[in-house]
Amino acid sequence: SRVTLRQLLDHAAENDYGVPAFNINNMEQALAIGAAAAELEAPVIIQASRGARSYANDIMLNHMMAALTEMYPQIPICVHLDHGNGPATCVTAMQAGFTSVMMDGSLKSDGKTPADWTYNVGVTKQVADMAHLGGVSVEGELGVLGSLETGTGDKEDGHGAEGKLSHDQLLTNPDEAVKFVRETKVDALAIAMGTSHGAYKFSRKPTGDILAMSVIEEIHKKLPNTHLVMHGSSSVPQDLQDIINKFGGKMPQTYGVPIEEIQKGIKNGVRKINIDTDNRMAITGQIRKVFQEHPEEFDPRKYLKPAQDAMIKICKLRFEEFNTAGQA
Ligand code: G3H
Ligand code: 13P
Ligand code: NA
Ligand code: ZN
Repeated sequence: SRVTLRQLLDHAAENDYGVPAFNINNMEQALAIGAAAAELEAPVIIQASRGARSYANDIMLNHMMAALTEMYPQIPICVHLDHGNGPATCVTAMQAGFTSVMMDGSLKSDGKTPADWTYNVGVTKQVADMAHLGGVSVEGELGVLGSLETGTGDKEDGHGAEGKLSHDQLLTNPDEAVKFVRETKVDALAIAMGTSHGAYKFSRKPTGDILAMSVIEEIHKKLPNTHLVMHGSSSVPQDLQDIINKFGGKMPQTYGVPIEEIQKGIKNGVRKINIDTDNRMAITGQIRKVFQEHPEEFDPRKYLKPAQDAMIKICKLRFEEFNTAGQA
């Protein structure tokens, strides 16, 4: 059934597990997430970005989510707006059947300029007040995602914002987090601690200086009852980089967020873990493989089915690793 983020994450907090939030854009990804969740009896968050909404259409997305709940009535599914950039985007998502919205007021509505405190609190509180009247949950974000390695912020396309940002801007301040949650009444808080979106997060396996998991511990101590969200949480597995490159891709060597760091986060109040890139890579690797090994093929099912299977594999792995499996 379709549930709110609040319902899902309260259960996760009571039972000490994390819930992956997988991005979707199309039917194959929806089918993959549904199949993986059903097989492992895992609750799941399915999220669509503004880009996904304009690619797939709100009506199509809403009906795909309805189809999944009809196929798997036993699985709790939260339908979440990823990185809403203003109240209007959040309201139209609610009208389109989303049970949860992210108001990302950490950046201005252009999605790249870091916003000030007053803007972020104002816009997030406005959305939370409206959403709660309609029984919809809200995720807010404090701090700018981006690289502590280079001091560059993260745009939604993952290519890095302009200008150098300070350590202070790239890490969520724990005292400000307390004030932010109190003033906005968000159900979940996304925090910045050194991750960025996309495949190119770190130039080496991250250690404490470039992935500041200690920030999560501090925030959790001050806000033990707030559900924390980790964005940019793809692990960018080496085997997926290798498959893509073996079959004609050109991805420079890169490092993502190690699973054991996410597991540390889950011990410290992280309940929602956002993953898009790993699934994109799993899909692309298989499509490249079929194209290279069977250039005579032109039936989309011949490459979309292996692509779906590769995504199912990633989703199942994450459900196991975050202890979501068996919680539905
Ligand atoms: O926030 C980034 C997610 O991976 C969604 O990406 O905006 O390209 O759909 P997108
Ligand atoms: P990745 O690019 O690491 O998968 O992060 C996705 C995300 O944070 C979506 O909001
Ligand atoms: Na989100
Ligand atoms: Zn994100």
